[in-house]
Amino acid sequence: METFTDLVLKLIEATRNHEYYRDVECINMIASEGLKSPAVKQMQSLASDLEGRYAEGENDLEGHVKVRYYQGQKYMTQVENYATDLMKGLFKCNWADVRIVSGTHANLATFKGLSLAAKNRKMVVTPLSCGAHISHDYTGLAGNVLGLENINHVYDINEFNIDPDRSADVIRAAKPGIVTFGGSLFLFPHPLKELKEVCNEVGAYVAYDASHVLGLIAGGVFQDPFKEGADIISSSTHKTFPGPQGGVIMGNFDSSRMERAIKKIQFAVFPLSASSTHLGRLPALGIAALEMKLFGAELAKQIVKNAQTAGQYLYENGVKVLCEKKGFTRSHQIAVDIRSFGGGNKVAQALEDANIIINKNLLPYDDQGSKSDPSGLRIGFQDVTRRGFRESDIKHLCDLMLDVIKGKRKPSEVKTDVIALKKEFNTVKYGFQNIEEALSYIKKI
Ligand SMILES: Cc1ncc(COP(=O)(O)O)c(C=O)c1O
Repeated sequence: METFTDLVLKLIEATRNHEYYRDVECINMIASEGLKSPAVKQMQSLASDLEGRYAEGENDLEGHVKVRYYQGQKYMTQVENYATDLMKGLFKCNWADVRIVSGTHANLATFKGLSLAAKNRKMVVTPLSCGAHISHDYTGLAGNVLGLENINHVYDINEFNIDPDRSADVIRAAKPGIVTFGGSLFLFPHPLKELKEVCNEVGAYVAYDASHVLGLIAGGVFQDPFKEGADIISSSTHKTFPGPQGGVIMGNFDSSRMERAIKKIQFAVFPLSASSTHLGRLPALGIAALEMKLFGAELAKQIVKNAQTAGQYLYENGVKVLCEKKGFTRSHQIAVDIRSFGGGNKVAQALEDANIIINKNLLPYDDQGSKSDPSGLRIGFQDVTRRGFRESDIKHLCDLMLDVIKGKRKPSEVKTDVIALKKEFNTVKYGFQNIEEALSYIKKI
């Protein structure tokens, strides 16, 4: 049996190995993972005391600290208020809550709060099989934890999107308290503006889970949920938005209806679902917001361009990338049906053996029980884009992937090329290398 000290030594070694393997030697194409800049990481390390503190209490309707139940808060309160205001400024809304520790927590507080404010506990969601996150579903948080009654949007597999007309009929018939949009397998903007009117008609709150696309929204290349009629945005802060792992909820306090919703969501945050709010991430969140304000448009545009380039290139080279007629994607991800090359499990493993990290994914038409061997792959381009990949680099990366997918070369041979390619892209662009650089940039503008 291993001794306690053996375990500690192994723990340290595994951590070092992981950092080297995934940060230096692998190319990351997991669509749900972001890439922080050195300045964001530096800010995280500067906040190590903050990371251990508590700030339980209530916030006001601007999202600012109102009451705290612990002493020693004077700077912590400032940090939380500044991070809140930076997120409000970036997303042009007048209320935000940054006490949220993850996207799932954001959904927990949003769905709980809205269900308390709404007239009933019915929630219309995208089917899990068509890209919703498990937290939206009756088998996950929404049903099993919160006891909400789920009713599905009608999904059009050919369009890879919610069917606006038939979903309008569902909403009209069900008269739910909440209608949600957004998802995990999320290629095209959801028909929020098309369905806003019917949501109003039945008096439903509209919630938009922006976890995957928050950075694209900040960059102005994806639908703007607030402009299209969302009441609340819930989100992770670490996918296309390249901040520290955490979450945020945002909205607009502009009516008694929204006042009621925001107050209920705040109640669902504290005291219902948060005690320590992981304050150490907040300074880094603020720096990520600054980077997205300055460089987000350019970054987001290139992410989508790279995803579309890969879609076209893989398709032309015999891989069934979905939604060819629609230009493959308008987000950071593409979806691939990889059955003719052995299925999601086999191909994702072969790519991992070549140090290209991708996730296998159920496609809407799969038997939803076959999670261990789905038909598909979901491929994300936010990490490689932030490392500086442009269209020609993406094609080169696709060639390496094609070698593995088609079995032209052994993954172990391709791995050597992947490590070499990664070495060429070992800096993070569209952001700051350190806090001093951020400060001098701000002073100049
Ligand atoms: C749409 C969506 N919402 C919520 C989450 C959960 O976010 P987190 O992992 O931050 O809890 C995810 C995770 O990938 C997601 O895809």
